[in-house]
Parts: sequence; C-alpha cells; structure tokens
Amino acid sequence: MIKLFKKIYYYFFIKKIIKKNVTYNRNKNDDRYILEEIIFPFILTNYNPQKILDIGREDYEIFYNEFFKNRELWTIDIDPKRREFGAKNHITDNVVNLEKYFKNNTFDFILFNGVYGWGLNKEKDVQDAFNAIFNILKKGGILVFGWNDEVVPFSKINGLLKLEPFYLKPLRGTSFTCNNGAHHYNFFIKN
Ligand SMILES: C[S@@+](CC[C@H](N)C(=O)[O-])C[C@H]1O[C@@H](n2cnc3c(N)ncnc32)[C@H](O)[C@@H]1O
Repeated sequence: MIKLFKKIYYYFFIKKIIKKNVTYNRNKNDDRYILEEIIFPFILTNYNPQKILDIGREDYEIFYNEFFKNRELWTIDIDPKRREFGAKNHITDNVVNLEKYFKNNTFDFILFNGVYGWGLNKEKDVQDAFNAIFNILKKGGILVFGWNDEVVPFSKINGLLKLEPFYLKPLRGTSFTCNNGAHHYNFFIKN
C-alpha cells in the first residue's frame, strides 16, 4: 500500500518537473524519456536514495537537481564551464579521480550517462573510472550506466565485472536499448 502510494507520488512528482522543464515532444522510447520518466521514478520509489552522484553535466540536465531535491546530490564534470549546470555540490575534475573526494561506500545511486565514449575513451581511464565507481557505491547501491559505443569491451572492465546486473522491473531487463541514436542503459547493483 505504501509502495503504491509512493509510486503514484513519484509519478506525479516527475511529471510536474518534466512539464515545467521539457518543452519538446518526445517518443516513449527516447533516451531522456526512459531515464527521466521510467528509471528515475523507479529508483526514487523503490530505493529512496539519499546520496546521489551524477557524472557529466550538460545544460539540459540542470533541472535534474529538482528530481533529487532534499537529498545529497553531487555532480562532477571535467570541464570547468559545466559547473553552472551542476548541483550545489559540484566538482570540476576527471571521473577517474572520484576517490580523491569520496570514501568507499558513499553513494546509494550513481548515474553515469554519456561520458564513457564521450570523453572517457582510453582503456586505463575507463578502468580507473569504473574501479572508483565500484568503490564509492554503497553495498546495495544502484549504477545506471548509459552509453552509445562500446569503446572498451565491457568484458575487460574490472570495476564493471565486480557489479551484478540489476533487473529493472519497468524495463523488464538488466539493460535497455533506446530507439534514438542507439543509446543503451545498463543497470547494476553492488552486492
Ligand atoms: C555527452 S555529455 C553527457 C552528459 C550527461 N551526463 C548526459 O546524460 O547527457 C558528456 C559530458 O561528460 C563530460 N566528461 C567527458 N569526459 C569526462 C571525464 N573523463 N570526467 C568527467 N567528465 C567528463 C563532458 O565535459 C560533458 O559534459
């Protein structure tokens, strides 16, 4: 009953934020629709994350701060010009350096969307980034990993191999391919 109430609450909570900030029409399988209107409400309803990290921030994501209002949201981006798009807690640095800022087992939810293959391309950097993400994710924490091209084979990424694929019920799988631009989401949990 409480779960149903939360589900309805976050459905309308998200819709209200979208209505205020998204001015274009989008298809139900577009990557932003999937992320904002399926993945976020599911995570908020079922995991109630208190500490959240969003890696890589563009201008079209400033309003993501609203989704995580009254929670401890951190953002990081390598480009100093992206600071203005970040959360109140923003770091300008390379994702590979995350452990300089955070202790092991800090975050309940990490969003790592559109950075692997979009700047983070070298194998060593990819390894370092995923090892750091694994370490700073809490036990039971969720990673949503969004990507377009497999620039380093997943089967070689140690930090990723330490995580378990996570079944995201509303998308009926541990991954999802969106219909625009072959964007993919993979879901993981740290057990
Ligand atoms: C294509 S944008 C995508 C951002 C966003 N997370 C999204 O969901 O669309 C890529 C962003 O990642 C940042 N970026 C690229 N390489 C990075 C790195 N090694 N560490 C931190 N940020 C990086 C870029 O500056 C840019 O803001």
